[in-house]
Amino acid sequence: MDCVLVAGGAGYIGSHACKALSKAGYIPVCYDNLSTGWEEAVKFGPFERGDLLDRARIDEVLAKHKPIAIMHFAALSQVGESMDDPGLYWRTNVMGSLNLIEAAVEADIKNFIFSSTCATYGDQDNVVLDENSVQQPINAYGASKRAVENILYDFERRYGLRHVIFRYFNVAGADPEGEVGEYHQPETHLIPLMLDAIDGKRDALTIFGTDYDTPDGTCIRDYVHVCDLVDAHLLGLNWLKDGKQSEVFNLGTGAGFSVRAVVDHSKDVTNKAVPIIERTRRAGDCTQLVSGSTKAESELGWTPVRSNLKAMIGDAWRWHQTGHYSK
Ligand SMILES: NC(=O)c1ccc[n+]([C@@H]2O[C@H](COP(=O)([O-])OP(=O)(O)OC[C@H]3O[C@@H](n4cnc5c(N)ncnc54)[C@H](O)[C@@H]3O)[C@@H](O)[C@H]2O)c1
Repeated sequence: MDCVLVAGGAGYIGSHACKALSKAGYIPVCYDNLSTGWEEAVKFGPFERGDLLDRARIDEVLAKHKPIAIMHFAALSQVGESMDDPGLYWRTNVMGSLNLIEAAVEADIKNFIFSSTCATYGDQDNVVLDENSVQQPINAYGASKRAVENILYDFERRYGLRHVIFRYFNVAGADPEGEVGEYHQPETHLIPLMLDAIDGKRDALTIFGTDYDTPDGTCIRDYVHVCDLVDAHLLGLNWLKDGKQSEVFNLGTGAGFSVRAVVDHSKDVTNKAVPIIERTRRAGDCTQLVSGSTKAESELGWTPVRSNLKAMIGDAWRWHQTGHYSK
């Protein structure tokens, strides 16, 4: 069986990718330093503990497992933290990724799949965001991801390392079978924060800004189910294995939901009210971030099937009640 190295495979999205890879007949080798991930999430293949900044350790793991491809999810991804400590983000996300990319070239690995983000587009209200939109990140997190995209363009030109870059919108939901799910500490994502408020793990869900220029005054985002997202990665892997050219794809559904719409839907799913605190706008939040591209559907053949609020909140709620890792 072919191996795929999954950097960040102990994290939220990486663990779902490991499950999907294993189901598809690959051995997912998880490379992770557990800084924000969980050893309990590594269930579908070998675990190689290591840091992106430890080049010798990366070389050792690549030589041992000889993967045919790398899926690179490992990163720090809290916007606020990236503004407080930009050096940490440039070191981990950019220098760490450069290590992994250089190691891939040296080990003669041909296929590289990278988790980028809609945060590389920055704050462009009322602009339809497709893959050709100008990238003007407004925080160090987004800037670090754009920098890695640029490294990949250069390494393809010079060394022929082919890549697929996925720019995710808001990832949500959990494995419907409950084997893995979302558990960030601290949590910054809307749906798990809301579920925490519903079952009393936090006092309330804070809504930042109710005076945006949207139908209900709250920000609008594009949510994609984590299982649909990792399906796109499998298609990206096949794309590269078929010898196709490097590409970048937005991963969003094009449907925007306001914070209030998400909250309203949660009542239908959980039969519980969400305690809410309303606050003024938070710096750096733009009104609307929605993908305006269907390139992943038309070119990769991606068909999101669970990226509706009912399934995303329902799967997250089931995981929330039964799952969770302990550290
Ligand atoms: N969750 C989202 O909505 C979202 C949206 C856009 C982009 N992304 C990107 O997707 C990727 C995965 O996100 P996630 O939500 O699963 O995050 P996560 O924090 O759950 O997973 C990241 C994993 O990377 C590991 N890691 C971090 N630094 C490392 C290092 N120096 N060496 C080795 N391992 C390291 C962590 O321990 C963790 O297991 C990230 O690159 C993130 O920027 C996520």
